[in-house]
Amino acid sequence: MSAVADIDVACIDVATLGEDVPLLEGIRTACAIRRLKPDPVPPALIRKVCEAGTFAASGGNRQPWCFIAVTDPARRAWFADKYRAAFRPYIQPAIDASKKPGYPEWRHKILAGGVYLSEHLHEAPVHLFVAGWTRRGSAQPQGLYPAIQNVLLACRAVGLGASLTNIHLTFRDEVDRWLGLPENRPSIAMLPIGWPKVPYRRPVRASIDECLYFDHYTGEEARDSTEAS
Ligand SMILES: Cc1cc2nc3c(=O)[nH]c(=O)nc-3n(C[C@H](O)[C@H](O)[C@H](O)COP(=O)(O)O)c2cc1C
Repeated sequence: MSAVADIDVACIDVATLGEDVPLLEGIRTACAIRRLKPDPVPPALIRKVCEAGTFAASGGNRQPWCFIAVTDPARRAWFADKYRAAFRPYIQPAIDASKKPGYPEWRHKILAGGVYLSEHLHEAPVHLFVAGWTRRGSAQPQGLYPAIQNVLLACRAVGLGASLTNIHLTFRDEVDRWLGLPENRPSIAMLPIGWPKVPYRRPVRASIDECLYFDHYTGEEARDSTEAS
């Protein structure tokens, strides 16, 4: 795993940083980066990546998002403890499965990354919560995912490491109260953001030729996703 050079935060020009990354190249290399340095991220840069989120599409252009960047170390430690406690039982079946012969190497890597993040989450300098609205009493995650993806791509462009998590939904009410969110502004995702310890790379994906059809679907019946995990 090659190391990533330290960035001199004092020398960053937020206005120009990331503006030169070609869009498709950025998309193809925006892998989940879960190994983050503890160095702080300037608030103006957090603002820049969140602003990219606000350019996303939303139903009726209602722009349901809001972003809460938790940077206070004590607050990050509180959340990281809760995340870890929720993550352990969630990931245990995958850890058990990974001990069986034939478990694919790429899955080992995802698993190791997820476990690493849960153990080091308090070190991530920004815990970015994305919250939205409710409709007939239910959260509307689909209204936020385009904005979340834009934030992830903007992080890629400016050289920040980031990933998408939603483990905290298992204790969302507690977290939302802690964030000061009203009941009708539920959080949907938390993005740990920081300077990457590892370089961006092309993520492992099946070929487009395995999932693109013209005019009619001619593939196999889909598996239930529980079988795929
Ligand atoms: C809806 C959603 C929820 C996710 N939740 C988590 C999570 O709670 N913890 C985590 O470490 N990664 C989480 N991920 C990240 C995925 O595990 C990651 O995108 C996947 O491993 C692919 O990584 P790659 O792009 O580096 O190949 C989530 C991704 C999505 C789309």
